[in-house]
Amino acid sequence: MTTAISTRGLTKRYGARTVVDHLDLDVPAGVVAGFVGPNGAGKTTTLRMLLGLVRPDAGTGSVNGVPLTQPAGYLPRVGALIESPAFYPGLSGARNLAVQATLGGLDPAGIPAVLERVGLAARGASSYQSYSLGMRQRLGIAAALLGDPALVVLDEPTNGLDPAGIREMRGIVRSINQDGRTVLVSSHLLAEVEQVCDWLIVIGEGRRLFQGPTRDLLAGGGDLEEHYLSMFTSTEGTS
Ligand SMILES: Nc1ncnc2c1ncn2[C@@H]1O[C@H](COP(=O)(O)OP(=O)(O)OP(=O)(O)O)[C@@H](O)[C@H]1O
Ligand SMILES: [Mg+2]
Repeated sequence: MTTAISTRGLTKRYGARTVVDHLDLDVPAGVVAGFVGPNGAGKTTTLRMLLGLVRPDAGTGSVNGVPLTQPAGYLPRVGALIESPAFYPGLSGARNLAVQATLGGLDPAGIPAVLERVGLAARGASSYQSYSLGMRQRLGIAAALLGDPALVVLDEPTNGLDPAGIREMRGIVRSINQDGRTVLVSSHLLAEVEQVCDWLIVIGEGRRLFQGPTRDLLAGGGDLEEHYLSMFTSTEGTS
């Protein structure tokens, strides 16, 4: 199988507003794919449709070759971090992962490895409430990795992080990909993800503006980048 994610005409409306507008996406297996668009562009809504959390109003799609209409068929091999996961403040990071493993029917033997992968090995015994924002984000990613996923979906994992935290997050994304997993990572800032992405999808107002290898955007896409920036500026005040 060579395509991790594919959609055709994927559409979501809320009332009279079309927030995801006939998206045709193709994410090759094995890449780090960036999913970029300004606030309100429809990134989270699209990711939620891919994860079976929101029902599309139109369109089709598949994840790891299984139709979106059968999420139970593909979700066991998908790890996701969408919004902050619910962790128990008083439990340690490691205990929280043990709880998640139990709830998800996953093998807790993998917990030390995923803590190591996100750089929390030394702090796994500390309580969640003592974690910094970046550590909380990383524990969420560790939880997403527990089930040994083929596809990892991360919705704005750099939100709220300082430049050092953003760099660290890029390193984590890279290392998850080096394990052979496809990663789809969203951001409202192209600059934050372009260095780590082989593949980019840029959306605005629910529509696809660019999709392809990152080098194609950077080579011929100066116009798009400008367009993207102007769009970002113009929607900033209204969202
Ligand atoms: N449950 C909902 N009901 C009504 N409108 C919604 C709902 N969820 C999302 N929207 C609208 O859909 C549009 C896209 O939202 P979405 O959260 O997908 O954008 P986003 O690209 O993830 O933005 P951000 O960068 O701010 O996270 C927004 O205008 C939002 O208000
Ligand atoms: Mg969002």
